[in-house]
Amino acid sequence: MDGDAAFPKGTMSHLGDHITLADLEVEPDPILTRLRSHEPVCWVPALEMWLVTRWDDVAFMEANPELFSAATEPSFLARALGPTMLTCDPPAHTRLQQIMQPPFQPGGRSGSFVSEELARIADELLDAVDPAGFDLMTDYAQLLSAGALATVLGLDHHGYKQMWEWCEGLCADIANFENDPELTKTGAAAKASLGAAIADRIADAGGDDSAISYFLREGATPEEIVNNVRLMISGGINEPRDGIGLAVHVLLTRPDLRAQVDADPAKLRRLIEEIFRVYTPVGTVTRQATQDLELAGVPIAQGDLVSGVLRSINLDETHWTNPTEIDLDRREGSHAAFALGAHRCLGEWLGRQEVRVGVERVLGRFPDLRMAYGADIEIRGFEFRGPHSLPVSAG
Ligand code: HEM
Repeated sequence: MDGDAAFPKGTMSHLGDHITLADLEVEPDPILTRLRSHEPVCWVPALEMWLVTRWDDVAFMEANPELFSAATEPSFLARALGPTMLTCDPPAHTRLQQIMQPPFQPGGRSGSFVSEELARIADELLDAVDPAGFDLMTDYAQLLSAGALATVLGLDHHGYKQMWEWCEGLCADIANFENDPELTKTGAAAKASLGAAIADRIADAGGDDSAISYFLREGATPEEIVNNVRLMISGGINEPRDGIGLAVHVLLTRPDLRAQVDADPAKLRRLIEEIFRVYTPVGTVTRQATQDLELAGVPIAQGDLVSGVLRSINLDETHWTNPTEIDLDRREGSHAAFALGAHRCLGEWLGRQEVRVGVERVLGRFPDLRMAYGADIEIRGFEFRGPHSLPVSAG
């Protein structure tokens, strides 16, 4: 490897000893840039896992699930949701993927939803905002994202706010790395109440076109449906919401990019891809070494947790030209914001459409939308990264 020497776990690791989750939550980029250049496979004692920060090494992890298993032990995800497709490996994973993927493809329920219903939901949410001042995240993006997934799944009768609350409750426990009992309680309440709602929906499911009815017809067990729908809700609402918020923020604060998109609206798709790459809303893919092995010359022991940092590889200078720049003419292949391997995002197509339609509708309705006076956005998080609030005004 170039850069400095590799520091196997327990030897003379320098950088990892000084990294905390709190620092990564606030400003990960300088830390990740240093790791890419000096210690691209780095043991971080505070996280009790390896951080892998270069494109080629994470691509290797993703291509070799037999070496890097998604069935990790311990697993915060399995604790919060029960066993899901994201906590198992092929062939068990392949079976679940074949059952669960079609409703999220353009030829399935998501296709008809996007062409017939998504814009209407966006417009109804925009009817309810006060143009003189509203929060684009809480009043629009998160409800649109929750409503889209609720409708595709067949849970929309519970209301978009309830969907969002389930998502928040589950995510609190998934990210409960310090085992805070209050967060465990919140997560358990969301897990139970959502589980009951999904079970009711399964009991009523029939020939309708909802994703839940489809899963049942294709032979998923009720327990598989409950757990994997919990996974979809915990992972499929925050990210499109963040994508909408980040894209709008960039368009409001970068007149040069806004001018390019206004001149050629097809460029909005390019902008969205660049935003997913530069901001990478899902930070990592965490796996467990199934045997003693070497990655980029660094020995990793069987059982070690290994985190492939998607956020870092999307900014890897050895893979991208001017990686931190949003370049609407970039032609360097696809990014890794939806991951690269067997667990590549199930809701990728639907998520992209939500962001595109969400941005088109709000800027179509309010062409003069601007950031509220004096407002600045704070983007936080390592595992999930996005703005929590985006005060805007069109009045
Ligand atoms: C639009 C923004 C989205 C981003 C950036 C995103 C990102 C990701 C990433 C990085 C993974 C891989 C996780 C891992 O391997 O550990 C993943 C998996 C997954 N995502 Fe998404 N996601 C998005 C939207 C959605 C939506 C809308 C859904 C709704 C169903 C969804 C459902 C899932 C599921 C079920 C998995 C697990 C797939 C598997 O294990 O095979 N995601 N997503």
